Amino acid sequence: MKKRLFTGLQPSGQLHLGNYFGALKPFADTYQEYESFLMVADYHSLTSLKNPTELRANVVEVVRAYLALGVEPSKAVIFKQSDVQEHTELAWIFETLVTVPFLMQAHAYKDKVAKGIEPTAGLFNYPMLMAADILLYDTDVVPVGGDQRQHVEYAREAANKFNLSFGQTFTEPTEKILENVAIVPGVDGQKMSKSYKNTIPLFGFKEEITAAVMSIVTDSSGERPENVYAIHKLFKSETELASLYENNRGNYKVLKEALAEDIEAFVAPKRNKRESISVEDVKRVLAEGREKAHTIAASKMADVRQKIGVSL
Ligand code: AMP
Ligand code: TRP
Repeated sequence: MKKRLFTGLQPSGQLHLGNYFGALKPFADTYQEYESFLMVADYHSLTSLKNPTELRANVVEVVRAYLALGVEPSKAVIFKQSDVQEHTELAWIFETLVTVPFLMQAHAYKDKVAKGIEPTAGLFNYPMLMAADILLYDTDVVPVGGDQRQHVEYAREAANKFNLSFGQTFTEPTEKILENVAIVPGVDGQKMSKSYKNTIPLFGFKEEITAAVMSIVTDSSGERPENVYAIHKLFKSETELASLYENNRGNYKVLKEALAEDIEAFVAPKRNKRESISVEDVKRVLAEGREKAHTIAASKMADVRQKIGVSL
């Protein structure tokens, strides 16, 4: 029997190369080893995005991206959080089990508030909605970036609290931290992130890719333009790059043009595949995924309602 894998991605903006190497590719490479669930965390993204037009477009883009990268809907359950109401229902129950001081220790919450994001009750309770996502499906493995490790610990704690209060119900999940996944740098050398406005779009057109690459910050102190090289390494082996960088020392324009071409060659087939996937295709995939996810979640919640005493 395959282990069960569950992961989620917030539909909070245009996908970039950081998302590709940090989340989409690792999922596409490994999901078939597990019974995999891929959830678009639309209710989570409501903690930062309050624009219905953008949210709708982002949800479609996330699903399109995974399909364009070859994830097969018949081999993974692809669904949207808001389509399975058991998630928000179970989150409430967990919120009655964990304490405010416990939730106050969440790094992600503290970081976001420090960055000036409004400390809504939703942002504060975010980890309990994520716990519900994971626990409804008796998940074994949760692949996430290091920043989400604590959230998986919170899910274990929610499972544990519930099991102690009402009897064994939830499986405690394990995080699978993607340690070997490189942090992709942006055009300014910091971590690529939409909040730093330093991204290279995953499905960008040639002109957009070129413009982003030409804007990479270079300095002339070292052997080679490190910010260009760090991104280039993701597309070509260091052996392949050695002579190019050796022969073009100090010639940043040529090196950037070579990088833009390599990214374009890599992105073009994916961009074409993405274009062939319609909004209707996405809706069909999500409807199918909703059916499969809901069957499991509803059965789990029936058990939960019985155990806590709201089913008479
Ligand atoms: P975000 O929207 O920034 O939360 O990112 C969504 C997913 O993409 C997370 O799983 C991140 O780990 C991954 N990710 C985002 N930016 C990068 C980056 N610069 N390098 C590697 N992974 C990233
Ligand atoms: N919080 C995760 C992030 O921002 C997204 C997410 C929501 C998630 N629910 C999840 C990830 C369940 C794994 C499992 O990246």
